[in-house]
Amino acid sequence: MSKKLQSINLNNVPNHIAIIMDGNGRWAKKQGMKRVFGHRNALTAVREAVAAASEIGSKFITLYAFSTENWNRPKLEVDALMSLLVSSLKKEVPDFHKNGIKVNSIGAIEKLPKKARNVLTQVINETSHNSKITLTFALSYGSREEIVNAIKNISKKVVNKEIDIKNIDEKIINNHLYTFNLPDVDLMIRTSGEQRISNFLLWQMAYAELYFTEVLWPDFRKEHLFDAIIDYQNRERRFGKTSEQIDTNA
Ligand code: FPP
Repeated sequence: MSKKLQSINLNNVPNHIAIIMDGNGRWAKKQGMKRVFGHRNALTAVREAVAAASEIGSKFITLYAFSTENWNRPKLEVDALMSLLVSSLKKEVPDFHKNGIKVNSIGAIEKLPKKARNVLTQVINETSHNSKITLTFALSYGSREEIVNAIKNISKKVVNKEIDIKNIDEKIINNHLYTFNLPDVDLMIRTSGEQRISNFLLWQMAYAELYFTEVLWPDFRKEHLFDAIIDYQNRERRFGKTSEQIDTNA
């Protein structure tokens, strides 16, 4: 067992970890290669992050794989990311089963190319009975778009008298987000030194601890996730309460 893993308190791990996997392009450029080379070399990091999260007992991990804004990248790069998604999802199915990984997705999935949509739906269905950890891919995902859609859907229900305005609360809003079946994020990790949230899970991260590392995503390994967990465990999550209240569990 790694030294870092040993120093983690397994009774206080984040239930839901969200990751902004950033720095693939810079990683490739550093080696004089094209950006796509970075994306292709990002899969080991994905496997390591999911395995590490599962090892410490986190139940949910959500990865920002493609944002609504990423559609504006050169077509060649978008196409490469989509075919990488198709080929890697297919290839990973035996491992998903072996490791109890249930695959899920959030985002405007209907905007993905048909092939990607079909493979994703198939893998989600095939892994739906796995229960060790839920791996959610955020694809064509934007938090503001998600909130706009939720407001539209709730408004329709108000007009149809299915919901009374006075009953609209956080729970109803939660139930209309892509993440309706996921808990709030406890820890958000972003790689590559950028310190932004970039339209990722804005509502769901209201009380998340934020962790930023200089490591470029293709270099990210289990040990880096354990570093983030150790940092998380040294913080005091007060949820608006005082330290004294947290100490006495009041
Ligand atoms: C950010 O790096 C990364 C992305 C926009 C795509 C994330 C995709 C992967 C990690 C590929 C594997 C994932 C799946 C689900 C198959 P960047 O390109 O913005 O890097 P840069 O900031 O250095 O340019």
